[in-house]
Amino acid sequence: MNKTPKNAPGEAPRADDAPGEAPRAWENPRVYFFDTTLRDGEQAAGVNLNAGEKLQIARQLAKMRVDVIEAGFPAASPGDFSCVQTIAREVRNATICGLARTLEGDIRAAAQALASAENGRIHVFLATSPLHMEYKLKMTPQEVMDQTRRGVLLARSFLPEVEFSAEDASRSDPDFLIKVFKIAVEAGATILNIPDTVGYALPEEFQKLCRRVIEGVAAPPGVIFSVHAHNDLGLATANSLAAVRAGVRQVEGTINGMGERGGNSAIEEVVMTLRTRADYFGLETNLDTRRLYPVSRLISRLSGVVVPPNKPVVGANAFAHEAGIHQHGVLAKRETYEIMRAEDVGSTPAVMVLGKHSGRHAFRDRLEHLGYNLDDEQITQAFESFKKLCDEKKEATDGDIEAIISDEIFSVQPEFHYEFKSYSMTVDKGSTDCRVTLTLNGAELSDSAVGNGPVEAAYAAIKKIVKVHPRLENFKILATSERSNAMGEAQVILSQDGIKAHGNGASTDIIKASVRAYVNAVNRLYATAAVRKIAVTTMGGSNGQSPPESPAPEA
Ligand code: KIV
Ligand code: ZN
Repeated sequence: MNKTPKNAPGEAPRADDAPGEAPRAWENPRVYFFDTTLRDGEQAAGVNLNAGEKLQIARQLAKMRVDVIEAGFPAASPGDFSCVQTIAREVRNATICGLARTLEGDIRAAAQALASAENGRIHVFLATSPLHMEYKLKMTPQEVMDQTRRGVLLARSFLPEVEFSAEDASRSDPDFLIKVFKIAVEAGATILNIPDTVGYALPEEFQKLCRRVIEGVAAPPGVIFSVHAHNDLGLATANSLAAVRAGVRQVEGTINGMGERGGNSAIEEVVMTLRTRADYFGLETNLDTRRLYPVSRLISRLSGVVVPPNKPVVGANAFAHEAGIHQHGVLAKRETYEIMRAEDVGSTPAVMVLGKHSGRHAFRDRLEHLGYNLDDEQITQAFESFKKLCDEKKEATDGDIEAIISDEIFSVQPEFHYEFKSYSMTVDKGSTDCRVTLTLNGAELSDSAVGNGPVEAAYAAIKKIVKVHPRLENFKILATSERSNAMGEAQVILSQDGIKAHGNGASTDIIKASVRAYVNAVNRLYATAAVRKIAVTTMGGSNGQSPPESPAPEA
């Protein structure tokens, strides 16, 4: 909520505000979008975005005009802190938010990370349900109220925009919830969030709760209510919309509904429902919906979380008509079977092909169209890879270009960076012997192993080099386009010591693509272990080199 006009929602009430001057919560026609893909979305199992990837996503979210970007939880780890700090410094045209428990250390960390934001928000949360208070927090209701006051007051001493979330609100006693929210408002909270933390609520019931809370708190003009729904029962979108009907004016969610367990409310679904059924809701948003599809693709590629083809709004089949009767209807009049237009969500099928004669300018334009915003150095690196690819296969499709970017530009984990160098292979009587060479901090590491096939042998050799022995949870090879000269893109998910990590690798040689994907996943495994302060179990390698330091577990 940038450069807000007088008494804009979420802005702290001012001393000269005459009571009743601004519209009450439900009279405001504007719905604000709070994107938590980088915080709650990143908590999804197996998702481990690095700093460059997060910055890239934040830039694209701002370009799509989400109102608020929750960039992370600064107190969670030094890595999270520096991501929030970088995004706060670099990304303009959106409020940048950092999550904090009501603890002093968390709030100070969030305030510090957000110091250079154009517009920053501290998001403090504390659970209010009997279950959470008794078993998780081990706090009495009175202690929760006191702690809410302390936390919000401290956050407000740093920033004028403070959001308070009553975690597990949907399973809380509504009267207690109202009491806690009143305290939060008195202490200076400007946004009050009603989360359905475990995706338990039903739309009708949730709408009643939201209405009761909004009326009961009777917050001053300028304070807005927010909803944060999880999708455990597939009701997150319905619950968010029900809350909007009750007067809530901020919707929290993620792109592609990415998030822990069943995920979060999918922003693309909520915004397109508000837009498609404007006749019913009569509300406005500022989101540029034509950016939804490119942003969805970008997030899917960088996170490794595949978008199902039938996913509403952004799935590959969201606008595909297979049945003859439907095709006939759409050709006669589009509205017979289409309630939204593909172009309104940026999902246009036109595939543009660049070739060896395409210049840097055309390449940069295409990257921007695909939703990437790279600096000059990254463009130079990507352009070189693109030219090399054109030498091998004459032309590059959008899929090829996206694969180059995610494989070569964003896969880099500066501290834990094994790099693929080469492989060689001999096949004898059905068994394959593969030698793989990687580099680590400039030093070459090489080993070989035997397997039933080339990928198995290559992976066994890599395991010897990198000294971890993760479980291969998933392995896929996809074509980057439908053309016969498409590159192969390998996608790998590894797990070890409770950590899941994905990796991508692309090449015209699918063994090379497979090796790159595995090495990329190993790098992410080590990086995630460092962030979570988990020591990954290493095994003795045959080359006498040390693997990247894996930190000791927290005391
Ligand atoms: O699900 C939840 O309750 C949360 C809060 C931190 C808002 O993510
Ligand atoms: Zn959540």
